[in-house]
Amino acid sequence: MDQSKTAKQKRRKRILSGMRSTGRLHLGNLVGALWNWRDLQDAFDCFFMIADYHALMSEYEKPGPIAGFAIQVLLDYLACGLDPERSVLFRQSDVPEHAELALILSCYTPVSWLERNPTYKEQMEQLASKDVHNYAFLGYPVLQAADIALYKANFVPVGEDQLPHLELTREIVRRFNHLVGGEALVEPQAKLTSSPRLLGLDRRKMSKSYGNQIDIADPPDVIRKKVISMITDPLRIRLADPGHPEDCNVCQYYKVFDPNAYEDVADKCRTSKWGCTDCKAHLANVLTDLLAEPRARRAELEAHPERLSELLADGARRARTVARATLDEVKSLTGLGKL
Ligand code: TRP
Ligand code: SF4
Repeated sequence: MDQSKTAKQKRRKRILSGMRSTGRLHLGNLVGALWNWRDLQDAFDCFFMIADYHALMSEYEKPGPIAGFAIQVLLDYLACGLDPERSVLFRQSDVPEHAELALILSCYTPVSWLERNPTYKEQMEQLASKDVHNYAFLGYPVLQAADIALYKANFVPVGEDQLPHLELTREIVRRFNHLVGGEALVEPQAKLTSSPRLLGLDRRKMSKSYGNQIDIADPPDVIRKKVISMITDPLRIRLADPGHPEDCNVCQYYKVFDPNAYEDVADKCRTSKWGCTDCKAHLANVLTDLLAEPRARRAELEAHPERLSELLADGARRARTVARATLDEVKSLTGLGKL
């Protein structure tokens, strides 16, 4: 590698982010995170994690699917343009340093900080069907702090709902540095994106726990069926009723996925030039086209499962090199390990 390239790479700031492997990823993840992550690869050194330990925290009663979902998340990452040549894609549980640093950081985390965390209370309510009154779930942000701190990430691209978690990471890092670490750990900053909000088929937040999502990997016939089931403008019952596109979720999808067509669609709706069935059929085509490339990439990858194992092994190896160095530093600062 030539000198100038090495020097340039050294100057690049680091990014870490991840998603839990509790299912395949959906259009909300694509719009809210993956598109953004894909573009960040141009300017940052990126670490993209599959958070399977975090998945276990809520799925521990039936953990069977977590492993398969981790592969599905990897496929979604790759299909959407995360590039294993440029970025480190890895599975959290392949890097035991995450668990080790989390245990150390837990010593520096007052319980009251965790109990106060608004995201904790919110998730408790959202995951009402699951018993998340376990010790690990309370400590969710401690592991998340370890995820970020291990790589000395400067920025963490997160949605607004994750901001309290990131604030906790910053507080934990600050407390650790203040008490023992000096400048050992890096206080990360949130990297918020102004991504449009995409609601689910039923207009609630898109989430697999509501079953109202379109998956990135859904085939065209499933996409069509789901789009047909979308709730539209409740005031538009017959074709002759003028529609209110600004109140219609279908039209909001156009805004996100086919912005050039938005005005035209809205106009046809207001003036009864087309009915909801036509409007939805067209949207289904837009989404099918949009997801054609990811679908093709996924199919190609699925045909070579051994390549996926290699990718995970390579990602784990590259992640561990960085994680190990940070953990060694932290262990020696905290009086752990050999003399
Ligand atoms: N909490 C994130 C989510 O629910 C997943 C996650 C785990 C994460 N560790 C992280 C995100 C570190 C950013 C940084 O999707
Ligand atoms: Fe919604 Fe389209 Fe029907 Fe208008 S025509 S109400 S935008 S689905």
